[in-house]
Amino acid sequence: MEITVAGGGITAQTADTYVVEVYDDGRLASEAAAVDAAMGGSITQLIAAGVLTGRSGEVTTLPAGRRLKATRVVVLGIGKREGVTVDSARTRTGTLGRRLRDLNAGTVAIAMQETSAALEPEAAGRAVAEALVMGLYRFDRHHTRAQDRPRHQIDGITLVETAARRVTAATRGVEEGVILGEMTNYARDLQNEPANLMTPTIMAARAQQLAAELGLECSIIERAEAERLKMGSYLSVANGSAQPPKFIVLTYRGAGNGRPIALVGKGITFDTGGISIKPAENMDAMKGDMSGAASVIAAIGALARLKAKVNVMAIAPCTENMPGGNATKPGDVVYAMDGTSIEILNTDAEGRLVLADGIAYARSKGATAILDVATLTGAMTVALGSVRTGVFCNNDRVMAEVERAAAAADERVWRLPLDQEYDDQIKSDVADIKNTGGRPAGSITAAKFIERFVGTTPWVHFDIAGVMAKSSDSGVWVKGMSGNPVRTLIHFALGRAR
Ligand code: BES
Ligand code: MN
Ligand code: ZN
Repeated sequence: MEITVAGGGITAQTADTYVVEVYDDGRLASEAAAVDAAMGGSITQLIAAGVLTGRSGEVTTLPAGRRLKATRVVVLGIGKREGVTVDSARTRTGTLGRRLRDLNAGTVAIAMQETSAALEPEAAGRAVAEALVMGLYRFDRHHTRAQDRPRHQIDGITLVETAARRVTAATRGVEEGVILGEMTNYARDLQNEPANLMTPTIMAARAQQLAAELGLECSIIERAEAERLKMGSYLSVANGSAQPPKFIVLTYRGAGNGRPIALVGKGITFDTGGISIKPAENMDAMKGDMSGAASVIAAIGALARLKAKVNVMAIAPCTENMPGGNATKPGDVVYAMDGTSIEILNTDAEGRLVLADGIAYARSKGATAILDVATLTGAMTVALGSVRTGVFCNNDRVMAEVERAAAAADERVWRLPLDQEYDDQIKSDVADIKNTGGRPAGSITAAKFIERFVGTTPWVHFDIAGVMAKSSDSGVWVKGMSGNPVRTLIHFALGRAR
């Protein structure tokens, strides 16, 4: 579905559906007023009758009558003028997109002059495009019967800017918003795909395909090379699986030969728990245990598409976690790439094991900062639910950058502590550290484990177990895998590019 920007009045546009904006004090945007006049005042009548309130997100559908070059008019409530923010516009527009699709809206022209006036055209175009692309996402490729695929659709969207000189800025915003939305959806596609169709081998092939399309460097470290690199921690997770592990490395050089930012994503394509096997209930959700990997791959793809002036590496150690005959056993001791010995007491705490080598690898490549993203602990859902990502950071200045990036994306984060006292919980009797710290502060002790591998490199850890999936549609979020925090990673790197 294409999103374009046009200049002039909305009534000059030919479309199946017009969308016009109304405030909650009953004030019509001038384009809404023009449409209302052509409809003989039916919008103002509905406002006077109290049927149409203009509260944010309200959608009222009216027949366009004979005097407009449209068949249907959707009146979109935008609330109060001071409430028109990037976040409210995005949320409202995400829901609007799905409503338009349910209406089988066909070609759509949206008069977004009030949003544009409140936010400036570039920010408005970016927010609206991002929200439409994200909000209209659905994963339906495995429905083979036509009746199971919704037939309704949107055939194209034109955002109408009244002043022609604002079109250029809005168009620039739309182009960026489309990239951020599409790459979030790219991550969602990888996440939602069932584990039999998104094995480490298939993920590696997808990464290579993306690299070829966007001109990224891509190297896949196979098991033999990982053995040579002494990635014993990562490889211990792959022992129980019939699927070969694939350690994916993508490099984007937008700023010459400087050292890169490293994005490291947990890539467990399915987490059974291994020998410490998980209960059957909801185990299917563990097809999403490669969400960190999907996020970093999508983010570097977006940065390449944006031609960001920054050097980035996406590192995704991918493997299944299975209880096969060769599987790692509780009590086994393994050695990570940096020489750290690890006692594996619970094979279901496998994410930190693959991240250990992912991070050691990032350091060996001279990363200036390491951001890791992982569906790491169920305890994260207990602490923050599906609203906020738990973040851990060893550097206050970098944390401020993360706060800014997350705010730009409206992907909420909350910082959690890394007090030295928590290290006691991961002391091992037989090795340098053990891979579980017991029930108390489970997300923190997992972060403390990872911290052991970052050394002095500025580091941020995103534990996205809670926000991995959404249980219902809301704003830019749709039921299923979320693609959070792809946009935060992009904004972080863009911040460094400036
Ligand atoms: N992948 C899981 C965490 C998870 C749970 C992610 C639910 C998304 C939704 C992780 O590998 C895991 O199993 N963690 C264990 C750690 C424990 C054994 C220390 C957990 O949270 O129970
Ligand atoms: Mn696990
Ligand atoms: Zn896991």
